[in-house]
Amino acid sequence: MGRYLRQIRLDSQPEGYLAELPVVRSLMASQGLHFQSNITFFVGENGTGKSTLIEAMAVLLGFNPEGGTWNFSFSTCESHSQLYQHLKAVRGTKRPKDGFFLRAESFYNAASYIDQVNKIPFRGPPLIDSYGGTSLHKQSHGESFLALARNRFGGQGLYLLDEPEAALSPTGQMALMLEFQRLLEQDSQLIIATHSPILLTFPGAEIFQLTPEGIQRVSYQETLHYQLTRSFLENPQRMLNYLFAEDGEEQP
Ligand SMILES: Nc1ncnc2c1ncn2[C@@H]1O[C@H](COP(=O)(O)OP(=O)(O)O)[C@@H](O)[C@H]1O
Ligand SMILES: [Mg+2]
Repeated sequence: MGRYLRQIRLDSQPEGYLAELPVVRSLMASQGLHFQSNITFFVGENGTGKSTLIEAMAVLLGFNPEGGTWNFSFSTCESHSQLYQHLKAVRGTKRPKDGFFLRAESFYNAASYIDQVNKIPFRGPPLIDSYGGTSLHKQSHGESFLALARNRFGGQGLYLLDEPEAALSPTGQMALMLEFQRLLEQDSQLIIATHSPILLTFPGAEIFQLTPEGIQRVSYQETLHYQLTRSFLENPQRMLNYLFAEDGEEQP
């Protein structure tokens, strides 16, 4: 299948702090990003602009900036950046039939909104059924997120996810990878900001790594997240000695 979102690029220079973000500087210096896989990861240090970029894509594509589907219209505080006004999207010929923008910080608000809408009587099955039947507030954060992915992400969709691993155990992350596989088999496209070295190994994914030098397309083995986690777990004591060493001195 073709992709719903094929390319993003900047067509004007944003101002203020946005102009300084590594992601903005490298988008300005390039022809934009071409999505060549149906599953794309953005990885990079805190503060490089991953959330800002995912949010700008979401707003540009018509999602609620606080997260949710296209139909969600709640808004608790308008803190989203103006980056979307400078961003251009090249879309595929087919339009997605489903979509969701998951913002790690506002999943709680999205869950409240689902509960609220669920109370409004209307013909047809209750809205909560499409989220697994139980209020997302009555499950743990990780359980509720997996319930959302399992029950609400329906395929032929465009899913923008910001740190979906936030509440998940390693087993939960593997369960989420099975949902990714299902969604891809059902003609979906996933664009994900993550710090998870587990998610990054997803077969066939393309990974854009953000650094102060720009955006590079890398393999999961080349990400700092994978390399650092691996060296840490191979020999925690060595890393701890290094981390806590006084200047020039080995710890006992
Ligand atoms: N309203 C704002 N004013 C100034 N700086 C901001 C504002 N919002 C975000 N930033 C800065 O933008 C940078 C990128 O944030 P973010 O996109 O959340 O990074 P990431 O998701 O990669 O960790 C951060 O360093 C943050 O301090
Ligand atoms: Mg972020």
